[in-house]
Amino acid sequence: MFKRYSKTSSTQAPNDAKLTEVGASTPATTENAVKVEKPALAIPKKAPAPTATAELSKDEKRRARLIDIRMQMHKRLLETLNLAAIDKASEADLRREISAVTQDGLQEMGIVLNKAERDELVQELVDEVTGLGPLEPLLRDEDVNDILINGHKQVFVERAGILSLSDIRFADEKHLLRVIDKIVSAVGRRVDESNPYVDARLKDGSRFNAMVPPVAVDGALVSIRKFKKEKLSIDKLVNFDAFTEEMAAYLQAAVATRLNIIVSGGTGSGKTTTLNALSSFIDNNERIATIEDTAELQLQQTHLARMESRPANVEGTGAVTQEDCLRNALRMRPDRIIVGETRGNEVIDMLQAMNTGHDGSMTTIHANNARDAVARLENMIAMTGVELPISASRAQIASAVNLIVQVKRLQDGSRRMTSITEIVGMEGEIISMQEIFKYEIYGTLDNGKIDGAFTPTGMRSSYSDRFKQWGYDLPTSIYTKKAAQ
Ligand SMILES: Nc1ncnc2c1ncn2[C@@H]1O[C@H](COP(=O)(O)OP(=O)(O)OP(=O)(O)O)[C@@H](O)[C@H]1O
Ligand SMILES: [Mg+2]
Repeated sequence: MFKRYSKTSSTQAPNDAKLTEVGASTPATTENAVKVEKPALAIPKKAPAPTATAELSKDEKRRARLIDIRMQMHKRLLETLNLAAIDKASEADLRREISAVTQDGLQEMGIVLNKAERDELVQELVDEVTGLGPLEPLLRDEDVNDILINGHKQVFVERAGILSLSDIRFADEKHLLRVIDKIVSAVGRRVDESNPYVDARLKDGSRFNAMVPPVAVDGALVSIRKFKKEKLSIDKLVNFDAFTEEMAAYLQAAVATRLNIIVSGGTGSGKTTTLNALSSFIDNNERIATIEDTAELQLQQTHLARMESRPANVEGTGAVTQEDCLRNALRMRPDRIIVGETRGNEVIDMLQAMNTGHDGSMTTIHANNARDAVARLENMIAMTGVELPISASRAQIASAVNLIVQVKRLQDGSRRMTSITEIVGMEGEIISMQEIFKYEIYGTLDNGKIDGAFTPTGMRSSYSDRFKQWGYDLPTSIYTKKAAQ
């Protein structure tokens, strides 16, 4: 059965679409300059136009003035608004109220703003009062994947794989700390000098981490991985050129025939997204246990046992680790176990589960290639304190893991599955592997995009017979290397 992943439309990958936008590197000269992002880390190909500096500094001044007005108005609002009633007020009522107070305030202070600026100010104040202030527009913006804050003056955002400095600012460090506090206190956590870092989840499910001074040297550090309501499906990923239809058909066979799979990749490379997409190949009547530090996976199956680990509380007790969850999961009779990311002591139980009746299990690991992923597993085993000779660790890994899927975020921001590698056994003390598909990079095009292509390596899967037995008879053509063009 060879399911075709037809390209349903000519939809371009968001990566590509957005690349043009960022890569064009137009200086922030539009009317809407306050919200326009400057591509900071995306190195502009051309030098900025001579007027850019003047424009930007004018912009900077305008922004500083707006922030100042916002702070004054916010103070005024806190004095005027009935805070107790805010929770009950509808958004429209609140906006009307805030708009009226702002109008009066501006008049009293003798500040003249045009309509766009006034609307923007009212929106910012609504965000400040009801939400997370300057973060709100970024949380609303569907194109933003990550928000990274280095102190109150620097808010970086990632869109389509490219990181750039945004024009969003917090008024001062206290303002940023207040927003952090609002987030963590909502989930019953605390962050301060004695407890300087925290993981939490925003109301919308986004993953949140913050570290505050003095451990964070130049001001509070915040990282947010936005929660996407609509996860990227296999079809979408194929359309976005993250991998090919042939690779998808191979992966479908691998998941359906219960190979144990590790998705390996760097930070933000698309590991969780890939894991989630792969899980869509699992049959709906299987019982799946998922274990994560922050619940991000959105499996479509009905029979799910979802678990989320928990750090210790302020007194240092009450921690529930991924290892605890995994041990417990083994008593829950799952058909498959999915661990969001294997990074510590849970490694031994994970490998054991893969070896003993929970085949078809999956996890992700932080590594740069298939060999590196195995080395990371070996290191993790060594770190658990379980004294296992290296050859025994390797044998354990080789018999537990069938497949390593490597994902990468390339320099142009595109995220691709750069390799699918099978573990085929041991040769002496060495784990032997064979790569089935890879992404070959030829160079970089003038527009900064990577010039490359997916290609089978020419090796036939060592699981071909298994695939066939299970009814996934993949045509040999999917393994055939295309002749160079
Ligand atoms: N192929 C893709 N095309 C476009 N966007 C993608 C692709 N894969 C992942 N993304 C987006 O990239 C962001 C990071 O993806 P994801 O959370 O899967 O990475 P990760 O490797 O699990 O990160 P971390 O190391 O932080 O756990 C997400 O916002 C996701 O929607
Ligand atoms: Mg992840």
